[in-house]
Order: sequence, then structure tokens, then C-alpha cells
Amino acid sequence: MQADFTTLPAADRYRLLTNFIGPRPIALVTTRSVGGHDNAAPMSFFNVFSQDPPIVILGIQRRADGHEKDTVHNIRRTGEFCVNMVDMALADAMILCGVNFAPDVDELAFAGLPAASCRQIGASRIATTPCAMECRVERIIDYPSRAIILGEVLEMHVRDDCLDAQGRYVNPAVYQPIARLHADNYIVADRQFELKKPASMAPYEAARPALKERT
Ligand SMILES: Cc1cc2nc3c(=O)[nH]c(=O)nc-3n(C[C@H](O)[C@H](O)[C@H](O)COP(=O)(O)O)c2cc1C
Repeated sequence: MQADFTTLPAADRYRLLTNFIGPRPIALVTTRSVGGHDNAAPMSFFNVFSQDPPIVILGIQRRADGHEKDTVHNIRRTGEFCVNMVDMALADAMILCGVNFAPDVDELAFAGLPAASCRQIGASRIATTPCAMECRVERIIDYPSRAIILGEVLEMHVRDDCLDAQGRYVNPAVYQPIARLHADNYIVADRQFELKKPASMAPYEAARPALKERT
């Protein structure tokens, strides 16, 4: 099968891209509405792209009626948002937050998610998330059908049990995020494995003398 993306309709591009680029991490994005209540929406067009500066990116498309989603509306107004990572304990609530509610609905309250204050931004974070990142908008790239939002991470909150004994690295037995696959399919990171570079390239170099590892 071949697909020429220069002629393929956008809906088919979406189907193919989201079917094959996965699993995609899920950001449950919390923002503050103009009325002062909490808004929450899951976004799987999301990832980290840099640590210097620390940049995460969201891709948020317009609704079918052409209007911007509440998340984008709030981000444009406040210049801030919080990314809450999602594990199995938050999965059901995350799906509820993905319902297309009216802008005056507090999705955290609706989904039964406890809100906690952020330190550097006005939006709330989810108190029970394994990890929350307070972000300030670095820039927004506008396309007719969507906004690509670059956020600079100002502060990270990590639940203590998600860290190892030294508090430096993740505890993979506890932090097991879910991620989105195609359509309504998800995966949980409960089958992790280590893959290390070979300790020595000598056997490979012996087989192919021209092969030299760059230092
Ligand atoms: C797992 C999941 C991932 C989603 N990812 C995105 C996404 O990356 N971009 C997007 O525009 N909508 C995405 N959605 C849909 C939004 O969450 C949905 O349109 C939501 O109602 C927007 O809420 P808001 O109007 O409060 O911003 C996703 C939904 C789910 C359930």
C-alpha cells in the first residue's frame, strides 16, 4: 500500500498517521477558563522536544464547526497550561475530560479529579497525577485547522512514589503511563525492558574493519 500525502484528504492522513505513529503519550492538559474554573482535556499530539530550553509541544485541532477548543482559547488568553501525565488510575477520568463539553464545564470536578495549585502558573494541576508540568507558552504556530503550541516547562511536580530510592530516576514498577494507539486503543507501559548498546564494538569492527565508532 502506498499513500501520497500530497493528494490524500486530511481525514485519511489523520487515520494513517495516528494508526502508525504510536503509542503516543497523553497529556491531560489543564487550563484556567475566563470564568476562573478548571478546564481539562487529553491531547496525544504531544511530546517533549528539548531540555535546553525545556520544550513540550501540543497539536490541537479546531472542532468540526471551525471553533477553537477551550484548551487553545484558555492558553491564548493566559499564556499558560499544565501537562498532567496519565496512568491507569487516571484513565477513566481522562476519557471523561475528552468529551466535548461547553466551556463553562469544570472537567476536573466532573471527572472527580482533585485539583491542586500550581506554583508558577494560575492553572490547576491534578493532585493525583504521577507527574505534572507547569508550562508557559513559548510560541504558537497557527495553521488554518490547528494550533501547534510550544510550551516551556517552568516547574515539574513528581509524585514521590514514582521515583527510585535516590530520587533521581523513575521507578518503572510504579510509573506506568498509558499511551494512545489507533482509534480507541491504548497501551500501558507495564512490560518494560532494557536495551543496551554493546559494551564493545570490537566484534563488529573485526567483521568490518572499515567500521569505526565515532568518539
Ligand atoms: C486520548 C485522547 C487524545 C486526544 N488528543 C487530542 C489531540 O492531540 N489534539 C486534539 O485537538 N484533540 C485531542 N483529543 C480530543 C480532545 O481531548 C477533545 O476535543 C476535548 O473535548 C477538547 O476539550 P476542550 O474544548 O476543553 O479543549 C484527544 C482525545 C482523547 C480521548
